[in-house]
Amino acid sequence: MPKVLVSDPIDQAGIDILSQVAQVDVQTKLSPDELANIIGDYDALMIRSGTKVTQAVIDAGQNLKIIGRAGVGVDNVDVPAATRRGIVVVNSPEGNTIAAAEHALAMMLSLSRYIPVADQSVKAGEWNRKAFTGVEVYKKTLGVVGLGKIGSHVATVARALGMKLLAYDPFISADRAEKLGCRLVELDLLFREADYITLHLPKTPETANLINAKTLATMKPTTRIINCARGGIIDEVALADALSKDVIAGAALDVYAEEPLGPDSPLRSLDRKAILTPHLGASTEEAQINVATDVAEQIRDVLLGLPAKSA
Ligand code: NAD
Ligand code: MLT
Repeated sequence: MPKVLVSDPIDQAGIDILSQVAQVDVQTKLSPDELANIIGDYDALMIRSGTKVTQAVIDAGQNLKIIGRAGVGVDNVDVPAATRRGIVVVNSPEGNTIAAAEHALAMMLSLSRYIPVADQSVKAGEWNRKAFTGVEVYKKTLGVVGLGKIGSHVATVARALGMKLLAYDPFISADRAEKLGCRLVELDLLFREADYITLHLPKTPETANLINAKTLATMKPTTRIINCARGGIIDEVALADALSKDVIAGAALDVYAEEPLGPDSPLRSLDRKAILTPHLGASTEEAQINVATDVAEQIRDVLLGLPAKSA
């Protein structure tokens, strides 16, 4: 019987599918060395974002046929190294779209109404209504950077909230943007005009530090930024500096250049202007069942000798 290693927590639905055709071992929190030491015994590896599948892991995985990422981003897998060895890498491109979009919308509304700090204040025994006067999103302009699956759903819901929509995406037609109620514009205009900026694009060499001291300086002092896409698209030191100097009004972040976020990150000392969540975009019961099922089915098929849809 083939063997599958599951090295990050995944939903039981995925384990049940894999168990139909393989021996499934769940071992989470392995160090890179521990993973490299045991991976040689396995035909398949199933991960979320926690496991880093490096060249060393791939070299040690002499029996590996497939790596399954229960989620969208395969940036924690050395895909070129896997491809050179003929190991297929698969993911779940759509399983957590709604979860991530809803998290971005929740962040936007929480930031506007100071919900996390107001909650802490009431629980601390206070009753301070004046301190938490927020702002409405109705009739405000939302700039969506990256109008793919998640960005499109965010745009659709934001439109229903009465927001005006700008979008920047170099790979999307003006026609597609218009169907979603968005005006497709250049990035500098979106940065200048948006009251809220929400990021839904991949991190690539071109998008690294897209939001930096220079671009932050072009935004309005009332602008609020939401990043539920990937860490590293925002220069975190520049963002912390801009927030502390009132260059912009707020930021809600789910993803960070280094995860877990370091204890000394300047983001941790920001006040009510920042909301930080620990990469929870895909953390809904529904999304975790979707991604575990999608990826487990692909691993099962490859172990049965059927063709794979690679990431
Ligand atoms: P997608 O591929 O459907 O959409 C990404 C869009 O970004 C595409 O339309 C693409 O044309 C656009 N794009 C590419 N380069 C760009 C650039 N330089 N400027 C502007 N747009 C650009 O992907 P998706 O499923 O919508 O995911 C979006 C992001 O969210 C990804 O980075 C993904 O890894 C991340 N994500 C995070 C979580 C989370 O837990 N926080 C969950 C799911 C996805
Ligand atoms: C993804 O790429 O799917 C998300 O970042 C969520 C996750 O890592 O589980």
